[in-house]
Amino acid sequence: MTQETVSIDQPLTLPCGVVVKNRLGKSAMSEALGTRDNRVTGKLATLYRRWAEGGSGLLVTGNVMIDRRALGEPNNVVLEDRRDMAALKAWAQAGTADGTQLWMQLNHPGKQSPSMLSRQPVAPSAIGFSNPALRRFFATPRALTGAEIQNLVTRFATSAALAREAGFTGVQVHGAHGYLVNQFLSPLHNQREDEWGGSLENRMRFVCEVYRAIRASVGDDFPVSIKLNSADFQRGGFTEEESMQVVQRLGELGMDLIEISGGTYEKPRMAGQDAPQSTREREAYFLDYAEQVRQRVSTPLMVTGGFRTTAGMQAALASGATDMLGLARPLALAPAMPREVLAGRAVTSEVKPIRTGIKPVDDMAMMEVSWYTLQLDRLGRGKAPLPDASGLGSLLKVLGVVTWRRLRMGRMRA
Ligand SMILES: Cc1cc2nc3c(=O)[nH]c(=O)nc-3n(C[C@H](O)[C@H](O)[C@H](O)COP(=O)(O)O)c2cc1C
Repeated sequence: MTQETVSIDQPLTLPCGVVVKNRLGKSAMSEALGTRDNRVTGKLATLYRRWAEGGSGLLVTGNVMIDRRALGEPNNVVLEDRRDMAALKAWAQAGTADGTQLWMQLNHPGKQSPSMLSRQPVAPSAIGFSNPALRRFFATPRALTGAEIQNLVTRFATSAALAREAGFTGVQVHGAHGYLVNQFLSPLHNQREDEWGGSLENRMRFVCEVYRAIRASVGDDFPVSIKLNSADFQRGGFTEEESMQVVQRLGELGMDLIEISGGTYEKPRMAGQDAPQSTREREAYFLDYAEQVRQRVSTPLMVTGGFRTTAGMQAALASGATDMLGLARPLALAPAMPREVLAGRAVTSEVKPIRTGIKPVDDMAMMEVSWYTLQLDRLGRGKAPLPDASGLGSLLKVLGVVTWRRLRMGRMRA
């Protein structure tokens, strides 16, 4: 395969014909800016207008849930029907300002739905977390029936069609980070003995069916993407070799962009946790894997995780291993960083580890996520980010929401 050097400001034409205006993509960050009953709020439009004006060619939304019985976090947005169409249109209009591509990320958490939100989550198989700390927060799931699996495939397609109707310019399936699509792919979490489990061919059936159903519902001229794990980094889990075979198949089916990440709640490698020093220095956590994928497929790729400097981004693009550069945490602290990068300025992101000094708290991935969620809330209220905000303070705020939910569920059960 020949390699041509591209620059960050160069447009990218996707297989469906849509053009992304430059090579910078805001990767999904769950905003938790829905209402308590998972409706769309005006804060989302405010936040996405800022990001659209910030210069990225592509904005992928935080995960939007396809089934209100299966939430990943409190205040997720759920998209099952037209009840929020007006607010969705306002969100889409804001996020597509300046010719920006705005893709809605669609997700079902499977077993990664906390027990305060799902007393009995569903998953390919009835296998709970092996990590005792996680077992405190997540109930053991029950296995989906064949009819339920078909229903979930249809739900992905329904949500995608609604996103298109609202004015979003593409969709992305969340196939990474240990959520349902990833659970189907993993031989550790999927031990079904029917056509949905066993061989890799069977384990990838769910993601292929979801893709086909979405494509049939949105048409051939609409970008359909997936965020996929390079690997789960768990013994007996989804491996790099299997992941490459899935990439190849999805490319053949017509996927427009494959975003590469990795890890699960049990092994949060998407955030660089436990990544070798050499990987972190290279900025992009999953570039080595992308280099191998590039040899096999011509489908556009977006590598996400770890980019912090203009030079790091330029080097990754020049390597030819990736077509787009995915950024998440840097854009929560500096929504207009892409403009600086596109102007060729040497920028360094302010992203740094968030610590409280209390080891068990610092070891929880939830701490960092809650800190960034607080930043997104500020942006959604039109305020400036607060890089010096206290890690513990943001965690306590999020736990306050959790406690409130627990009390509410207790009252509903009573
Ligand atoms: C607050 C927060 C929420 C996130 N939510 C999502 C999500 O909804 N979907 C997803 O695919 N990734 C999600 N991620 C992961 C990011 O998209 C990205 O893969 C990860 O942060 C590594 O990229 P970075 O080093 O540029 O931050 C989230 C990350 C953070 C910090």
